[in-house]
Amino acid sequence: MKSVLVLNGPNLQRLGTREPEIYGDLDYPALVAALDKHSQDLGVSVTVKQSDSESELISWLHQATDDRFDVIFNPAAFTHYSYALADACKIHTSSGLSLIEVHISNPHGREEFRRLSVISPNATGVIAGFGFDSYLLALRQLSS
Ligand code: DQA
Repeated sequence: MKSVLVLNGPNLQRLGTREPEIYGDLDYPALVAALDKHSQDLGVSVTVKQSDSESELISWLHQATDDRFDVIFNPAAFTHYSYALADACKIHTSSGLSLIEVHISNPHGREEFRRLSVISPNATGVIAGFGFDSYLLALRQLSS
């Protein structure tokens, strides 16, 4: 069975109460449950993790590269300025593995600083603006 690692960056454990007009009113456990259910339907194994720490996210990306797991990654605010995470994504995709950058909101329709992603040039693809479905679409793509 194919294994996919889903990584979530800072503040995403606050879903449900954090700016619900932007991110919706479903909480982080609901995101994990949606991914678990979808993965069963698709016959894929998923592990879902969240961290506010850049260092921890980098370690998990390196581990995914070593374990040969494809990755779905919502880098949250790190999207816009973390060259260290961008480099870890490049190591991953350069090794022939897939990494799909996802966002719940559409950062391009929001503040100016969100329009730049330093991650996107090192991602296989980007899905943004579809709420939790951004993750589910990414999982569908990786399972095909
Ligand atoms: C986000 C968009 C980012 O700009 C923001 O910092 C987040 C969440 C999204 O999923 O829409 O924390 O990645």
